[in-house]
Amino acid sequence: MSRCTLAAAAKINLYLRILGLRGDGYHEVAMVLQSVNVRDTLHLTTQPRKDMSITCDHPHVPTDATNLALKAAHLLAEEFPKQATGVHIHIEKHIPVAAGLAGGSSNGAAVLVGLNHLWDLGLTLPELQALAARLGSDVPFCVQGGTALGTGRGDILEPLPPLTGGAVVLAKFVHLSIATPWAYRTYSETFSHTFAEASVQESDHFVQVLASHSLPEIAAHLHNDFEKVVLPAYPEIAQLKQSLLDRGALGSLLSGSGPTVFALYPNATLAQQAVEQLRIHHPDVDFWVTEFCTWGIEMLR
Ligand code: C5P
Repeated sequence: MSRCTLAAAAKINLYLRILGLRGDGYHEVAMVLQSVNVRDTLHLTTQPRKDMSITCDHPHVPTDATNLALKAAHLLAEEFPKQATGVHIHIEKHIPVAAGLAGGSSNGAAVLVGLNHLWDLGLTLPELQALAARLGSDVPFCVQGGTALGTGRGDILEPLPPLTGGAVVLAKFVHLSIATPWAYRTYSETFSHTFAEASVQESDHFVQVLASHSLPEIAAHLHNDFEKVVLPAYPEIAQLKQSLLDRGALGSLLSGSGPTVFALYPNATLAQQAVEQLRIHHPDVDFWVTEFCTWGIEMLR
């Protein structure tokens, strides 16, 4: 029996444009993905025969075949039947569930990295990412982490220089979740007339702003097309975003398709002070104070 423990980081989108509908039903996007230091811990333990099993300490995480961590284990076992063993996966959940923070995708990514090690597969980062893309659009980024430009359906990645400094606040209504397919479909139905004008080049300007490493500049240029459908449908999220801005955030944005919003603050002290105030007025919202991080999956032991 062998085992390993991995940390899997959450992600936010600093920039997200939806450029068109593709023939395969996915949407063409241009996005900047950023890891943040809210992390799940995954324990992988090999077990006899080819048994695959999963447990999680969070009651809302499915432990059936829909779980991306389990899907990742099955995918690798299919691809490498000779090296595959059974494996038990236990997830300590800290990343908010169904929140637009790629919690499930990061767990899938961690299992790919962990089993590559336990089964001694010798897969390179590009090989792991090709497998990751079969699990979901965000999974290749989660394998790599840090800061990256994502195009295609979000799975074609170009690493960008790491972002450092400042603090990131995540805020999520406890009982709200938003289905990503709904958000894409609603955006398409409402804004498909804008697709012809949209182009990948639009992200170039944001990438230049990132290169300035000026947090106020970056905060001023945050953009997420999903806000155009999610904020009108959930005015409470728009209000939460405004509250973060009123409490000194340099900028605030919906994360992915939501419902989490994130806000950038100059430092952790100011972020912590803002959150203490906000908690008084928003008892139905969970808050986290965190920071950018430069990795996606970390092997702990
Ligand atoms: O790739 P993933 O399984 O995470 O995507 C979930 C759903 O989100 C897809 O089934 C699709 O409806 C939508 N999606 C999309 N375009 C993308 C990524 C996701 O339409 N680029």
